Amino acid sequence: MAKSYEEVQAITKVGTGCGHCVEGTKQLVNELIIRKKIDENQIVCGCFKITAGDIVTAVKNGAKSFEEVQAVTKVGTGCGHCVEGNKALVDYLLKK
Ligand code: FES
Repeated sequence: MAKSYEEVQAITKVGTGCGHCVEGTKQLVNELIIRKKIDENQIVCGCFKITAGDIVTAVKNGAKSFEEVQAVTKVGTGCGHCVEGNKALVDYLLKK
């Protein structure tokens, strides 16, 4: 399974013509990737072995921002490599 917009682009060529659809399809692909992560309950922060389920639980328990999720779970406070991806995940969950 493709794990990024660029991989989807390489397979389907979406957005490689005029480019007008890039933003919309990027959003769609990111949402599908995030949903899949939630379904699979994958580790989303290797430093602390935090799963997507832990992030979902933090939001369900009332966290209203990435910083609040971080305070509860420690997500992204190690190497920091997962911060951007998990910010997108938290944003997605807060909009639901
Ligand atoms: S992988 Fe999340 S802080 Fe390192």
